[in-house]
Amino acid sequence: MAERVFIQDISAHVGQEVTIKGWLYAKTGKGRLQFLRLRDGTGMIQGVAFEKDIDPASFEAAKSVTQESSLIATGVVRADDRAPGGYELSLTGVQIVQLAQDYPITPKEHGVDFLMDNRHLWLRSTQQWAVLRVRATVVKAIRDWLDNHGFVLMDAPILTPAACEGTTTLFETEYFGEKAYLSQSGQLYNEATAAAFGRVYCFGPAFRAEKSKTRRHLIEFWMVEPEMAYADLDECMHVEEELVSYIVGRTLEERAEELKVLERDTTRLQTVQPPFPRLSYNDAIRVLAEKGEPLPWGEDFGAPHETIIGDAYDRPVFVHRYPAACKAFYMEADPIDPTLSLSVDMLASEGFGEIVGGGQRTASLELLEQRIAAHNLPHEAFEWYLDLRRYGAVPHSGFGLGVERTVSWITNTHHIRETIPFPRTLGRMYP
Ligand code: 4AD
Ligand code: MG
Repeated sequence: MAERVFIQDISAHVGQEVTIKGWLYAKTGKGRLQFLRLRDGTGMIQGVAFEKDIDPASFEAAKSVTQESSLIATGVVRADDRAPGGYELSLTGVQIVQLAQDYPITPKEHGVDFLMDNRHLWLRSTQQWAVLRVRATVVKAIRDWLDNHGFVLMDAPILTPAACEGTTTLFETEYFGEKAYLSQSGQLYNEATAAAFGRVYCFGPAFRAEKSKTRRHLIEFWMVEPEMAYADLDECMHVEEELVSYIVGRTLEERAEELKVLERDTTRLQTVQPPFPRLSYNDAIRVLAEKGEPLPWGEDFGAPHETIIGDAYDRPVFVHRYPAACKAFYMEADPIDPTLSLSVDMLASEGFGEIVGGGQRTASLELLEQRIAAHNLPHEAFEWYLDLRRYGAVPHSGFGLGVERTVSWITNTHHIRETIPFPRTLGRMYP
């Protein structure tokens, strides 16, 4: 049998006979000529079976093979500008591995519930393939950038004794007779490792029992969280814009084909370069009022507010210094106006909203103890965290970037559920 190659490498084999191991994506037949769209996970290529050029058993296999049957095809690679992807395979052999009967996802339109019930199969569709390959690149870009900029990976625990981001979205479980919660964020642990290692990041799943059903929320999502000792809010924003610009650049470079499949207008990504505009919460409130979406001072942004502010720029925008009351307990107070916090959100354009949240953490033991009490958090569970303010407290900052929100924005995927292989959403845990 001819050498087995992957479709993504096909351009290196023009004129050669090769073997592809994959599945049938779609087929059109015209009697003595059969066009098989083959996929192998790395890409898609059209194979052409011409009755007179192929043995009878292979031609019969080409004629009878059904959608999503597994098959092994051999053929000669030809460069052809008219072919989707630029290459075509003149088939010399077709062998069915398993004949699929009545594949449920057909070229007709299906409802979302049906597709979600069949998520394990839906993943094979070209759109899903493209989005999830971008996701893999986004994750790789994040790790590469952080690893190359002095950040040390420090994994945070998933089972935790206390809340990080508010008690309303906690997932409770049991830990040998004690209450435990699935992690909402690794941040508090990052603050400890940052004091030990300087610059760190954790990268893992986060769990939030979000009761609202929106296109931006998952129950289980992935977040990268860098944390830096001796860094203030400005430095935090600087690192955020460098990281996000790098992620976008790498994706444009390495996933051009996938973005094309998704019909992504990449001119809106090419402008994503530092510096990103910086807007204070107080200024943002004025803009929102002018644009007819007033927000009472002190409230956090909702989706419509994020969309208006995000859409005003050609790249993501920072909104900083939110009122302390609408942000988490650990935020540093603004020394100029202590009713404000040294917090920052990064909002993407095109309606994708907040993709990064973070800021400077309070270094004050006293303020932290007050906040823990005011938020009704259990003091004992935070003793270790308070130690970080007793032993060598420093100004420190960090942020969390949501992988799925970022992938939604870069791929222009309307609903976040398509940016993770098996989404956990409100009321759905299958498959
Ligand atoms: O703004 P959040 O809640 O910030 C934190 O958790 C901080 N402790 C992070 C830190 O400073 N280390 O979440 C950060 C990001 C959001 O901007 C968003 O991208 C994503 O995580 N995110 C979600 N993504 C999908 N579904 C959800 N339910 C999400 N909640 C937050
Ligand atoms: Mg947030």
